[in-house]
Amino acid sequence: MCGILGYVGKGRPFRDLLGGLTRLEYRGYDSCGIAAIKNDKLFLKKRSGKVNQLKKDLSKSLKTVSSLCILHTRWATHGKPNRANAHPHINRESNLSLVHNGIIENFLSLKKELLAKGYKFSSETDSEVIVNLIDSLYTSSLEEAVLKAIAKLKGSFALGVISSSEPNKLIAVRKSSPLIIGLGKNENFIASDVPAILSFTKRIIYLKDGQMAMLNKGSVRICDIKTKRKVAYKIDTVKIKLEDAQKKGYTHFMLKEMFEQPAISTKILSSYSKNQKVHFSGLKGCETFLKQSKKVYISACGTAYHAGYVAKYFLEKHSSLNLEIDTSSEFRYRQIEMGKNSLLIAISQSGETADTLAAVRQAKKQGAKILSVCNVVGSSLVKESDFAIPTLAGPEIGVASTKAYSAQLLCLFLFFLYFAKLKGAIKNKEYQGLLKSLKKLPSLQRKILAGGKDIRRIAKAFSKFGSFLFLGRGINYPSALEGALKLKEISYIPAEGYAAGEMKHGPIALIDEYRAVVCIAVNDNLHEKMLSNIQEAKARKGKILAIISKGDKQASNLAYKSIVIPKVDNTDLNPFLAAICLQLFAYYVAKNLGCEIDQPRNLAKSVTVE
Ligand code: G6P
Repeated sequence: MCGILGYVGKGRPFRDLLGGLTRLEYRGYDSCGIAAIKNDKLFLKKRSGKVNQLKKDLSKSLKTVSSLCILHTRWATHGKPNRANAHPHINRESNLSLVHNGIIENFLSLKKELLAKGYKFSSETDSEVIVNLIDSLYTSSLEEAVLKAIAKLKGSFALGVISSSEPNKLIAVRKSSPLIIGLGKNENFIASDVPAILSFTKRIIYLKDGQMAMLNKGSVRICDIKTKRKVAYKIDTVKIKLEDAQKKGYTHFMLKEMFEQPAISTKILSSYSKNQKVHFSGLKGCETFLKQSKKVYISACGTAYHAGYVAKYFLEKHSSLNLEIDTSSEFRYRQIEMGKNSLLIAISQSGETADTLAAVRQAKKQGAKILSVCNVVGSSLVKESDFAIPTLAGPEIGVASTKAYSAQLLCLFLFFLYFAKLKGAIKNKEYQGLLKSLKKLPSLQRKILAGGKDIRRIAKAFSKFGSFLFLGRGINYPSALEGALKLKEISYIPAEGYAAGEMKHGPIALIDEYRAVVCIAVNDNLHEKMLSNIQEAKARKGKILAIISKGDKQASNLAYKSIVIPKVDNTDLNPFLAAICLQLFAYYVAKNLGCEIDQPRNLAKSVTVE
């Protein structure tokens, strides 16, 4: 994980560059730092904590203009989040500095060799090994030293390297960790992701895996790290606006992103359906394959996995098709015989999640085709996929995923309608009916958001509970998993999502008057069963919060508190509506408890290490 930013050019004040680094904090925010060439010497400032704290430390030098600079925000892997372990790291002579995102698997053996040569280490990190390794190989050319050093590294790394001996040069390397180059006028940048450099430039080169770039203010040269030969590159112009990555008056990104959901649904529906038909222009070339495909798998992590799980229920309910789903961290190590007629659907907001990328690579080796359902079109996942469905949610900054989840859900529902139709596995009337009802989604989502005040009140009443159990059945079982995940991510309250029918096989032992039980008891074919589960939890004094459909007196009489959603004819819409209720609920509980909502402790938005 971690975020990297680098600059070489006519000169930029620290303030601007730290502003860019702030937009990478979603990748990690436990410590940060900056190294710059100042008066021909290496200037270094780093600390534990967030970029805002670093800005305060640097308040007197925020106007300092630097022409060569690297910055880093960290999510700790090796060593705790303190100053010593924060990046940038430097060599003993303080003339070489490096920022790293990734993990060096053989760092201990390399460290041993360097210690034997007399090198000293001041951190516990794997990254400090790289800077010393480069130092040990540096004679006259930084570029050559970096190339020699990376040949010895095992693992994943995106690097930014500078030296005061070559004060006009920034070196960047990408191997299994994302890195982009931004092209400006008389200045160039490197960054882990686009938002970091959006205020400087929109012209981007997506560095490929196994490439190294040499940047100075007027030029960029890229070479393959194995052949060492110069390679050609493509310049893309990104469409994202800086405003999309800002709070726009909301107290938190998470709140803003929840409120964006209806507009995103409208965008998805208008982009992917026309004249009562689902159409994905990006999938035109693969219809024959999809028609002939035999097996379908879904692989994803965290919230994206939950979206896939809901969609599985949808596909299996409305067609004669089925699929297998697993979390990517498990999927990648399973011995599945996939074969040429298999389709792997990889779902990811960032498109950089290490386990999901590994699952994709594993499936590709076995001949499967990859369809990615992804929010970041320039991501590694999209680049490595055979086909892609962009989820069109715009930049999601809040670490707890909200709008990306509902966008994934809607895209998957639409894809499965399209897929089932293509394979003749769904009746036309059902297809038409489902598509028509999905169009009602934006206005339903708006209604839930408008009722946010009630949810805020209820959240206040529940903020005192020390643990939560979330129960759901059928298509709302994954909704329960997602509801529990949202709550624990941002409020740190232990919360468990469970299939309601499984409650009697364990979790019921935990229920007493101190346990809050959130039951998704909306109107659907399993409603009666959920009511029985509510009775059982209530009989053991559990405090019931029920998510119910409008007019459901039975459930509201049983519950301590209820959140009411509109009653819908098509019950497949319930997971979308329950999701917004549970997102708002988690948000207000966390707010009541004074938690750091957008950047919860220990988490990172993009998990680029295994
Ligand atoms: C992290 C994030 C989650 C996200 C998961 C998968 O854990 O905090 O919000 O759901 O990674 O990320 P992806 O980018 O692949 O959807």
